[in-house]
Amino acid sequence: MSTASGSAARPLAVVILAAGQGTRMKSAHAKVLHELGGRPLVRHVLETVRVLAADRTVLVIGHQADAVRAACSGLDVAFALQAEQRGTGHATAIARDACLSDFSGDVLILYGDVPLLRAETLTRLIHGHRESGASLSLLTTIVDEPAGYGRIVRDPSGRLARIVEHKDASEEERSLREINPGIYCVESGFLFAALDRLRPDNAQRELYLTDIVAQAVTEERGVRTEPSPASEVEGINSRADLAALEASLRDRVVARHMAGGVTFLDPRTAWIDDGVEIGPDTVIGPEVQIRGKSRIGRDCRIDGSAFLTDAELADRVHLRPLVVITESRIDSGAVIGPFAHLRPGTRLARDVHIGNFVEVKKSVVGAGTKANHLAYLGDATIGSATNIGAGTITCNYDGFDKHPTVIGDRVQVGSDSQLVAPVKIGDDAYIATGTTVRRDVPAGALAFNSKADRIRADWVAGFRQRKRGGG
Ligand code: UD1
Ligand code: CA
Repeated sequence: MSTASGSAARPLAVVILAAGQGTRMKSAHAKVLHELGGRPLVRHVLETVRVLAADRTVLVIGHQADAVRAACSGLDVAFALQAEQRGTGHATAIARDACLSDFSGDVLILYGDVPLLRAETLTRLIHGHRESGASLSLLTTIVDEPAGYGRIVRDPSGRLARIVEHKDASEEERSLREINPGIYCVESGFLFAALDRLRPDNAQRELYLTDIVAQAVTEERGVRTEPSPASEVEGINSRADLAALEASLRDRVVARHMAGGVTFLDPRTAWIDDGVEIGPDTVIGPEVQIRGKSRIGRDCRIDGSAFLTDAELADRVHLRPLVVITESRIDSGAVIGPFAHLRPGTRLARDVHIGNFVEVKKSVVGAGTKANHLAYLGDATIGSATNIGAGTITCNYDGFDKHPTVIGDRVQVGSDSQLVAPVKIGDDAYIATGTTVRRDVPAGALAFNSKADRIRADWVAGFRQRKRGGG
């Protein structure tokens, strides 16, 4: 794929404005730190612009600058600090002075709180800008409720004239439905000079970046608008916006998986994070959340009510209802649930069965092994074709440290056994029902505790008589 900057000789810089507090979020956290699809807003924008392979990317930060910086870890971005938020024009000038004073080329300007923008749309804006030789290009969109946005004002022949902010607009201008999403591509020479000419003579006493449009028109420079889908350029100002965009993002992700061959029995209740991979012919039932970096293979069945985070499922894995899986890897053909909990560090080999009310933590379970009812397996290494009886507990914690349990192949662990770690059970061993295992069991051995089976004949009748007699 040819990138916006790679296909032309002109350098590209990206400036992302993210210094604002986001007052309407009513939050102690900076707006761009709020999460959408499991990632902070600012990462959505940074990861989108990464596709453009710009020469430089600058993020303008202000509110909670350190936390925003930390949220950008691992991404190639420079930071410019805007200590006082004096408007979008001021923020852009800060980026110029901090990181771009020697830059010459095109500057793409966008916001940190517009997370659903697609790289394709930005590429279209940049290509159109370059092909037309314009000094300034911007996205515009038509919305039903334009209140709050800057309006695109055109002259009688339909040419862009200026942008007027809602607060500065006349009644007539407020009826315009073509709005400014705030995404621009500007030739750096014009931009840098224009920023110095901005004046705060407006309703908000701010330096408006939008005023560069009227400047370009007055100087008879080429200006260009590029229509964009409203669904992509919606910004986040409130918790309601956050919920609405979460729903759009969810729909977008689920639609992508359906196009890739995944069946969703109830797409409205599927919550799939952006980075999740799902193989074709997998069927996903209602109320399923798949989060983080989870990867699901082909032909899997997830019956419903599952919560998966950073889970890796190979092909043909079947999750029955009500399972929680975190940071675990499951091989093909395994059957999990109902009511199972796989905690971090769990590795299940082929065809393992984990059944009702079984919790597995940091354990490796070999091929074909079954733990079908009421068990806790923690810090355990279990071989293949072993059967873990109902109610088996690995007693892995002594109040200070965690200890390992090692169980071999083809072992039969009887119901209601306690394996007191550290302990090893050899291949083919049998653990009798109700055994507390405190010592290692050699291969092929039977382990049992001698508790006498005692029976008192006719005891019940006497007991009841004593009770009823009040004695
Ligand atoms: C701005 C535009 C408006 C457009 C709208 C789209 C201006 C003057 N107006 O208005 O035409 O319709 O966006 O959402 O540009 N920011 C800073 N530093 C500042 C001010 C803002 O970094 O000093 C950042 C904010 O964090 C935010 C973005 O810039 O991410 C937009 O700021 P905001 O105050 O929301 O601008 P609007 O008034 O919505
Ligand atoms: Ca805004």
